[in-house]
Amino acid sequence: MIALHINIDHVATVRQARQISEPDPVTAAGLVELAGADGITIHLREDRRHIIDRDVRILRQTVQTRLNLEMAATEEMFGIALEIGPDIVTLVPEKREEITTEGGLDVIGASNIMRDGIKQIRDAGIRVSLFIDPEEDQIKASREIGAEDVELHTGCYANAKNIAELDSEYQRLVSGAETAHQQKLQVNAGHGLNYINTQRICGLPHLRELNIGHSIVSRAIFVGISQAVREMKEIIILNS
Ligand code: PXP
Repeated sequence: MIALHINIDHVATVRQARQISEPDPVTAAGLVELAGADGITIHLREDRRHIIDRDVRILRQTVQTRLNLEMAATEEMFGIALEIGPDIVTLVPEKREEITTEGGLDVIGASNIMRDGIKQIRDAGIRVSLFIDPEEDQIKASREIGAEDVELHTGCYANAKNIAELDSEYQRLVSGAETAHQQKLQVNAGHGLNYINTQRICGLPHLRELNIGHSIVSRAIFVGISQAVREMKEIIILNS
């Protein structure tokens, strides 16, 4: 069965719009776990625009499934990850001016900070996943640098403007998943997935985990967070 990790950043986005204490992503995490999520994903951004340090600390104590900390490969973030000890660290590229993560990580051109950080995280017993585009050279570099998982960036598939583009992006993901599996990397995927385009993604070979955030939090506004999680779980169960 493909695991569903839910990214709760945008619960925190609503809180930060008022800079008060509600809605609390910690409460959201508990509810999505009760509704069937297999893991909680949070992105601690350099500018702390949604998830803040306090959330990471409390979630480490309260999450009952698995806590996946998405972060940029910086000394500050590696320090926080080593102190908090999430179950998984997912490295993502980060630009201050972007609205959301725009592309995959450049693992081929990895900095020394990234290389050293990955080693330290792995030595601490934390799983390392790299968020990358489904490109053969990036996948092979991920293996060489010491990652155990890759999260294939599904953003181009999700944003495809016509059927031909959709099919071609899907095929890129299929090839990426095959290459990652050959490299003995666990295959995960995410970004831009919703209640329509997730069904086909579930057919990717060797897929183990999905990270989905914005569409679930959006639907939660209308149907409640538990129902939103259950509906996405159902899509995954029916198509796994
Ligand atoms: N995976 C990664 C690495 C991400 O950065 C994000 C967005 O924070 C997601 C998955 C979830 O994307 P979305 O919110 O579009 O479902």
